[in-house]
Amino acid sequence: DLNIKTNDKGHLDIGGADACELVEEYGTPIYVIDEERVRDNYNRFYNAFTKFYPKFKVFYACKANTNIAVLKILEEEGCCIDAVSPGEVYICKKMGFSGDRILFTGNNIRNDEMDYVNSEDVILNIDSVSALKRLAESIDPQGKKISFRVNPMVGAGHHGHCITGGEMSKFGIMETEAVEIYKLAKELGFEPVGMHSHIGSGILDPEPFKLAIESTMNIAGKVHQEAGIDFEFIDFGGGVGIPYTPEEELLDLEHFAEENIKLFKEKLEEFDMGEPILYLEPGRYIVGDASVILVEVNSVKESYRKFIGVDAGFNTLLRPAMYDSYHHIVVANKMNEEPTQTVDVAGNVCESGDLFARDRPLPDIEEGDILGILNAGAYGYTMASNYNSRPLPAEILVKNGESFVIREAQTFDDIFEKQSIPEHLK
Ligand code: LLP
Repeated sequence: DLNIKTNDKGHLDIGGADACELVEEYGTPIYVIDEERVRDNYNRFYNAFTKFYPKFKVFYACKANTNIAVLKILEEEGCCIDAVSPGEVYICKKMGFSGDRILFTGNNIRNDEMDYVNSEDVILNIDSVSALKRLAESIDPQGKKISFRVNPMVGAGHHGHCITGGEMSKFGIMETEAVEIYKLAKELGFEPVGMHSHIGSGILDPEPFKLAIESTMNIAGKVHQEAGIDFEFIDFGGGVGIPYTPEEELLDLEHFAEENIKLFKEKLEEFDMGEPILYLEPGRYIVGDASVILVEVNSVKESYRKFIGVDAGFNTLLRPAMYDSYHHIVVANKMNEEPTQTVDVAGNVCESGDLFARDRPLPDIEEGDILGILNAGAYGYTMASNYNSRPLPAEILVKNGESFVIREAQTFDDIFEKQSIPEHLK
């Protein structure tokens, strides 16, 4: 169930463009983003839920991909933003999202950062009593609409690092303190109008979402009844996974939406909560399968194992090294060839953990072949670094076969420009 297309030359097709021609034009490594796929993913997600609950908004979790062209595409589509840092608020405002289309969910942020995001008139989602009290001291709370992130005591994710609910999670307020905190917020002069939860990332199993909706709604119901809060919105966060391996299946989104909305509505009725707007915050689902990294094979080594060496490493895509994540790899210039061997695909960073794949079945590979590392659109470029003093790669947008440079590759000077040498070392 992966988003892979082959053209009649037997080459990888990305958004109507030939991957090999893109490499000829722009070199390697490059991130290539398919504009139409981003739009399709957004609309598929939006339509699935709107069908069952029209008071619905998508807050794209832009930490997944903050390329400004991607942000512009989603702005055009009418999407909203889940931002988690002042930098994300800054760039989304610049790309045309008004403050009421940005929900800021901070975690352990400084007062001056809170002041900045507040000055941009975004919706503030508060994560602790400590943050609430500090906020009340630094801004005028009168009539300021806010929401709280709660810990629904349900967590899930493709890796332990990506589970954000439950006892080990640093996020959210506890169920047992929720009523008191909403009351306190009112006493301080705020208008608490929202509730938020987010259980984790990369989840293909529908079950934990159901449990989280149930638990969050029970907390919201209690807060509604005991603290007298009329919710304008309820936000169940992001986390919807995508297939990374050929065996994994895309979630049946319509069915998923139908089931979850049914539960949501039952809970609204049970607690007599009216019809708040439903927010969801997909990141990976919107951009994950819309981007491929193209790299060139520069060495083929048979030692104790067979290594295929390429010209990018975990500085370019961290997920395999950080989470042991599977990213499907294709030989972009030999799409119709069958696997003949199992190989390790290694990057160019000087660490043994710098592998894109272990024991991967692939066709015969020679130096000069182009590999496509798939599903790199979410948490790819945004987690890339300059480790090993390697410049960040270029990003290319493709729309119906036409290509555009949307970010130039860094130069060496870009890596080092902010450094300086003190007088005594000159
Ligand atoms: N909302 C909140 C509050 C979040 O913290 C996140 C992700 C999302 C929404 C979006 O989750 P998504 O729909 O993309 O699963 N770097 C990891 C993923 C970390 C996700 C962090 N929070 C990875 O590469 O898998």
